[in-house]
Amino acid sequence: MGDQKNDAWIFSLAILLSSTLVYNSRGTIDNQAIENLQYVTELTERIKVKSPSGDSSSGDDDDGADAQFVQFFPKFVWAVRDFTLELKIDGRDVKEDQYLEHALSLKKGKDRKTTDYNLPRECIRNYFPSRRCFVFMTPASPEHMTRLESLNEGDLCPSFLAVTTNFCNYIFENSSVKTVKGGLAVTGRMLGHLAKSYVDTIARGDVPCLENAVLTMAKIENEAAGRDALMEYQKGMQELCFPVDLEAMSRQHRLCDTLATKTFMSRSFKDDGGEHLKDLAEAIAKHHADLLCQNEEASEALCRKLLSELSAPMAKKMQEGFYAKPGGYELYCADNDSVVAQFRSKPNRGVRAEEVLEQFLKEKSVESNSILQADNKLSEQERKIHEQNQKAALLEQQKQAEEERRVEMERTLEDEQRGQAEKIRMMKEKMEEEWKVQRAEADKAMQCKLQEQKELQEKGFREKAEFMNQEIQILKEKNSQSAKSGNFLTDTLLPIFSTALETVSSVFQIKAFKKSLFPPKKGF
Ligand SMILES: *[C@@H]1O[C@H](CO)[C@@H](O)[C@H](O)[C@H]1NC(C)=O
Ligand SMILES: *[C@@H]1O[C@H](CO)[C@@H](O)[C@H](O)[C@H]1NC(C)=O
Repeated sequence: MGDQKNDAWIFSLAILLSSTLVYNSRGTIDNQAIENLQYVTELTERIKVKSPSGDSSSGDDDDGADAQFVQFFPKFVWAVRDFTLELKIDGRDVKEDQYLEHALSLKKGKDRKTTDYNLPRECIRNYFPSRRCFVFMTPASPEHMTRLESLNEGDLCPSFLAVTTNFCNYIFENSSVKTVKGGLAVTGRMLGHLAKSYVDTIARGDVPCLENAVLTMAKIENEAAGRDALMEYQKGMQELCFPVDLEAMSRQHRLCDTLATKTFMSRSFKDDGGEHLKDLAEAIAKHHADLLCQNEEASEALCRKLLSELSAPMAKKMQEGFYAKPGGYELYCADNDSVVAQFRSKPNRGVRAEEVLEQFLKEKSVESNSILQADNKLSEQERKIHEQNQKAALLEQQKQAEEERRVEMERTLEDEQRGQAEKIRMMKEKMEEEWKVQRAEADKAMQCKLQEQKELQEKGFREKAEFMNQEIQILKEKNSQSAKSGNFLTDTLLPIFSTALETVSSVFQIKAFKKSLFPPKKGF
């Protein structure tokens, strides 16, 4: 035997990490074999359900924790190797499971010897309501046993192979995926986090705690879920080739925001208060704002280039004094109209076309005015009218630029609100889902207890059965607490979370801040 204390910790680690615990012994299941499993009686000292420092208001730190063990403990399989006896009880043939149940049956009496005898059996019965037994004969004949490693399967005893097949079938069919407190299925990566967190705790000299381990793991997983989700958003948005129009930008943002939120939801759990989801929303808003700016800049640059190319012939004519003659203003206006019409007919100018055009026309208004004033084909009266028309046209263009901004702003705001509402809806679904799983976990534990109590009553252990009422009461209380916490989630936590989401900096704040740091360049 190794170090007793190490063995005890290894035993509790095995319980904490497995969904089916296979305990194996040699020969038979006799009293000695059960006493070797003494560690089960110490499990309350080696596994805590709740964090002791956690919720001090409840005052019951870990009261009745072992009543809750059934909720989180693995299925139990006893594998007896090199079984030497016949499967008989009092001369009757029995099945393997009956053999195990017989070995675990309690004795009546209150003396020390009986109590000691009963204790490990009671622990096994209480903590592991799902029990199976597999009895393996010696795998091969004695002359073959010395070279077991090099034997063919055909050299093994058929009865040994038959049990092995049953055993494997049972594990493959009925061993469920490992879950943690709260009912979440554990992936390989999460099992790694769990193992590390338990071993670290033990190495520190503390007692592993189911709740803490889950919280630690939740934090790691939720952070990773946030990173995955943000990456998904960023990758999706990369498909856009700026400048794009408002519609394309908005559509892609909505799509990617939804996908990212789904990605987050599928990996996160116990993000109570929605802190990590809020971080994600903030990160997405920031990235969205960046992209909106980039898209605007791309549109501005493209439109400037376009206008400057389209108006180049006009500028040349201007330099050559082409318009400086009677009737020059009419020629100028015709050229101007043609430039603007060509500009307007170009597709994919992005979200700043009207604004850039406004700047362009404003800039040109000095030049056009000087041509107007110099054109002596026109009467004073006509000049006045043209001047007024120009002013009106500039004002009109200014309105269009403002409208362009307003539409973009409204759409972005709409997208943000829609994104928030969607996140809240998904969060609610997720909370309800997590809560349902917890309820199912608690209900299952309750069923197990009631079943065990019934068996005890039937076998005449009235006192023990009554004693179990206490445990059942504790579970009931926990269940009703969790029922309340279901309401708590949707009635209290969700509104808090919604408010928190509202504090996520809006895309406009972020954009405005960016713009104040890096004002865009002007000029044609
Ligand atoms: C798995 O469990 C089901 C339901 O309890 C049972 O009917 C079935 O025989 C089990 N499979 C094996 C291989 O033991
Ligand atoms: C140039 O054309 C635009 C669009 O037709 C018009 O609004 C603007 O007033 C014109 N400018 C001049 C100087 O004619």
